[in-house]
Amino acid sequence: MNKNTTKFSVITKNIIEEKADLLIVGIYENKKLELSPLVKAIDEKLNGNLTVYIEEEKFEAKISTSLVLSSLGKANFKKVLLIGLGKQQELKDLDQIRKITASAIRKADSLKAETVNISLFGLDSASKETVNLNAPQIARSIAEVSLLANYKFEKYLTTKDKNKDSETDQNDKFTGIQKINLFVGAELNEAELKKQVEIAIASTEGVLLARELIIEPPNIATPTYLAETAKRIAKDQKGLTLKVLGKAECEKLGMGAFLAVARGSVEEPKLIHFHYKPISGKAKKHIAIVGKGITFDSGGLSLKPAKAMEKMKYDMAGAASVIGLMSIISKIEPQLEITAVIAACENMPSGDAYRPGDILTSMSGKTMEINNTDAEGRVTLADSVFYACEQKPDQIIDIATLTGAIVVSLGETAAGLMSNNPELAEEVKKAFNLAGEKVWELPLYEDYESSVTKGTIADMLNAGSGGQAGSQNGALFVKQFVGKTPWVHLDIAGTCWPEKKDTCFTPKNNPAGYGVLGFVRHLENLSS
Ligand code: BES
Ligand code: MG
Ligand code: ZN
Repeated sequence: MNKNTTKFSVITKNIIEEKADLLIVGIYENKKLELSPLVKAIDEKLNGNLTVYIEEEKFEAKISTSLVLSSLGKANFKKVLLIGLGKQQELKDLDQIRKITASAIRKADSLKAETVNISLFGLDSASKETVNLNAPQIARSIAEVSLLANYKFEKYLTTKDKNKDSETDQNDKFTGIQKINLFVGAELNEAELKKQVEIAIASTEGVLLARELIIEPPNIATPTYLAETAKRIAKDQKGLTLKVLGKAECEKLGMGAFLAVARGSVEEPKLIHFHYKPISGKAKKHIAIVGKGITFDSGGLSLKPAKAMEKMKYDMAGAASVIGLMSIISKIEPQLEITAVIAACENMPSGDAYRPGDILTSMSGKTMEINNTDAEGRVTLADSVFYACEQKPDQIIDIATLTGAIVVSLGETAAGLMSNNPELAEEVKKAFNLAGEKVWELPLYEDYESSVTKGTIADMLNAGSGGQAGSQNGALFVKQFVGKTPWVHLDIAGTCWPEKKDTCFTPKNNPAGYGVLGFVRHLENLSS
């Protein structure tokens, strides 16, 4: 179900002699043919036509620009796509590698190439001089982007493309790139490179499952659906066990906050609790991960306006990335104990819904006054992070589409990170930024705290009183329930579903599955 339909392999043969619909080769700006033996060899294969064409088109190889040429039957590859790498000295980080890969692989898709052979940066020992990054990490990034950048969700379309009415289009059988072969030099450490690519392939499967859960409509992706998905993935993974608590069990635990949010909906709430233990050996650390799992956020009685409600099926994107991550955990094999928790429910208005003015008692015993039922995420997190902390983790990270304010401050480019522990904050930043999932820290000054920690007649006030620093208010509310546990909060309201632009991982107007790649890196760092 979450299997990638594109196969990605690493190959050490001579790329020029291999069959493909499309051969993709990187070329540096201003350097053109002089520096690349590979492009030179392709040019020779095409009787010098490539050089002629480059001149004719005045192709400058600026970053992410491209040029396509047919081999006209002169080679085993049908077409060659030159992709501009920009200036050699400016190509310094994996983000640029990702950008270039995304434009190449999207171009390949638009050319309807089923088999694609890539040698973007000439991954061989000679390329060390050209790209100052290590080859396995480059290969991993290329694999991740290649397997994610052309995402389409067509499950509910009864005709795949309504614009296809001409004869040729009707015969068009192209259903996406089937095979991508990454060509690398045989002299590299092939084992390490292949290992990184394996992790990339597994990670993207996790991302794709997360995306699927997010994009499924809210009448399908209910709390029960999330719980069923969790059961399915726990069943076939070594070391992973699962508990799903229903309403009655949550009542017994005293989850008065979570259950209050759930009360307005006919959908039964589910508390999803994964536990992972290394298959052999001792765990180096115990980490808890908690995802916000509101399968639809209407705002409740503090009802959202129609436009703001439209996309609120994605209010479980945090939960989706947790499930996506857990779906591949046995392939990553971290030497860690992991507690992953999701309090899944729907936020709806009804005669039985929780009200502004209500006072709730959370599992921790702390009371909270509700001044806005639309600030529901933090109310559910109050119980789910408290529950997770009862498992005594060494650290806890929550991931949540928590505030509209984070979209205002960071847009869809970076997630907001807030924390009670600078070291952990640094570690998470490093892992996510390396993965290409940008995070930016916002300060949790004490000054902000009183806005949510002083209700008029209860310990706390869910939506805060200040009307300022909205993302910090949300985070500070959650903070009250983690006690002394080192904690990081990731607000992904902006990054979970890019609307303005394609990102290198996600075509716009699609779910990103943000978080899976960053978590994988963080788990790797913790277990190494
Ligand atoms: N799910 C929303 C946050 C959100 C907004 C996610 C936009 C994605 C895009 C959250 O439950 C919410 O409604 N937050 C309120 C809090 C406010 C009432 C204090 C918000 O941000 O407006
Ligand atoms: Mg809300
Ligand atoms: Zn919400």
